[in-house]
Amino acid sequence: MPSTFTIAIDGPAGAGKGTLARRLADHFHLNLLDTGLTYRAVAHRMLQYGLPLDNASAAETAARQIDLGALDREVLSVHSVGEAASQVAVIPAVRRALVDKQRAFARTPPGAVLDGRDIGTVVCPDADVKLYVTATALVRAQRRLAEIEQRGGAAELAQILADIERRDARDMGREDSPLRPATDAHLLDTSEMDIETAFQAARALVEQALARRNAD
Ligand code: C5P
Repeated sequence: MPSTFTIAIDGPAGAGKGTLARRLADHFHLNLLDTGLTYRAVAHRMLQYGLPLDNASAAETAARQIDLGALDREVLSVHSVGEAASQVAVIPAVRRALVDKQRAFARTPPGAVLDGRDIGTVVCPDADVKLYVTATALVRAQRRLAEIEQRGGAAELAQILADIERRDARDMGREDSPLRPATDAHLLDTSEMDIETAFQAARALVEQALARRNAD
């Protein structure tokens, strides 16, 4: 029996998967990897050196140099880096390099919660539990606006919604590892759900999987 336990969480930007991943990792004492940060780190490196985002060989080199232990969320969370990340994420060689690192992370005991776009379909197809967390684009845009306003910023809802729809289209429409639910993923629509309710639903699914594994 494998000695690690893996929870795969996928879904579009702003659906609440990051918060859910953190809560599950804390609760079940698992390692945590936000794989979006790995694509953001590649994009950040390209922007820093003024390299075009479609320069596949430079992006692959940057991807191979990413250290999963040194991902600076503060620096990488900037909106423009997220947009650039979805552009380098279409490059197959970048995906291969990052997926290798993500798989090694998942295999490290006691196991991990990984969140992203292709965890249940490509990175960890044998994950013990797969969740696909979603919400309507409008709800996700409203949440993003509330976050910005809470930090004292200002933005236009229509602009945020347009950004979200553009990023969804790029992530779902790309050829390599598009965003889609794994056939065996549990769907969690958080449009009308608060984070506590989503967490309790996910926790119950993980406990069932743990019980099944202990019974084997
Ligand atoms: O989740 P986050 O907004 O940080 O992700 C930034 C971008 O990185 C996504 O829009 C997506 O294009 C890419 N990504 C990906 N596969 C993952 C995680 C993120 O393609 N597993």
